[in-house]
Amino acid sequence: MFRIDDARPAVTLADPTFLADVIHGLSAPRKAIPARWFYDRRGSELFEEITRLPEYYPTRVETGLLEAHCGEVGSIVGSGRAVIEFGSGSSMKTPRLLGAIDPTAYVPIDISGEFLREAAAGLSQAFPGLPVHPVEANFMSPVALPPQVAALPKLGFFPGSTIGNLVPRSGIDLLRGMIGTLGEHAMLLIGMDRVKDTGVLVRAYDDAAGTTAAFNLNLLHRINGELEGDVPVDAFRHRAVWNDLWSRIEMHLEATRDVRFGVAGHHFAMRKGETIHTENSHKYSPRSARLLLAAGGWTPIREWSDARDMFSLILAEARPEPMAP
Ligand code: AVI
Repeated sequence: MFRIDDARPAVTLADPTFLADVIHGLSAPRKAIPARWFYDRRGSELFEEITRLPEYYPTRVETGLLEAHCGEVGSIVGSGRAVIEFGSGSSMKTPRLLGAIDPTAYVPIDISGEFLREAAAGLSQAFPGLPVHPVEANFMSPVALPPQVAALPKLGFFPGSTIGNLVPRSGIDLLRGMIGTLGEHAMLLIGMDRVKDTGVLVRAYDDAAGTTAAFNLNLLHRINGELEGDVPVDAFRHRAVWNDLWSRIEMHLEATRDVRFGVAGHHFAMRKGETIHTENSHKYSPRSARLLLAAGGWTPIREWSDARDMFSLILAEARPEPMAP
């Protein structure tokens, strides 16, 4: 029998964590929303576009470093490892690494099941015979790996400078959590962006085509669409600023006039010039990168950088804590 209920359009229920983060973040004296909420479908598409922008050098330079040095990585890590990729997304950079190190298994970990399954299928085709075990999980907490790789030596892969999106204390927690996931004596290949000329950095996060601005503003569209918000998106503009004290690019959404708006029944007001802080992207000098890794339990054993010192790839090992003198 046809019931009137059956005629209702499908309703997407709001993610309660998204709602809680937005309400909490907009109620704080300095407004902030965690950057992980950028990545709905539109946000993920915009991020893919960002990686192809002329101003956004990290993807290009890191890909070049992988192309140039994967062979060397392979000779250091040896064959037979299980490669565990944290936040694998579309696994764009992975084939270069897998092709160079003769792995026994590949485990992509990502919170987006959709991306994960597509990428895993593509890699299985490109590397027939290589067991691929996708894990849908938030890699910010230690992840239980599939039993098939339990006994294998592991190489963690964390490209893209995603570590830079975390404040150092969370970055260190993540690095330590990776040892929990991979085990002592594992190795880690990690991409970290370098400190450089402020103009180059700001342009990478505020491009001429306005793609990064659209990526940042999409968060407000997402709030309106998913959380019953009425944020006047046209009253906000994208800002990318270098914070020298904390060695990071910050992205903000700045109110261009006094505004009032609601989100899921909560009311907010912002003065002209007030901002919502939406992302940090920390940049590391060679020394500070080593310190961060060491604080996270990883000993760097080899580093590669490009001729202009824009970006670095670091190979590190989870050695037991050394005795202090
Ligand atoms: C994902 N992450 C490493 C990017 C970055 O460079 O911090 C996110 C991004 N935000 C704006 N542009 C790119």
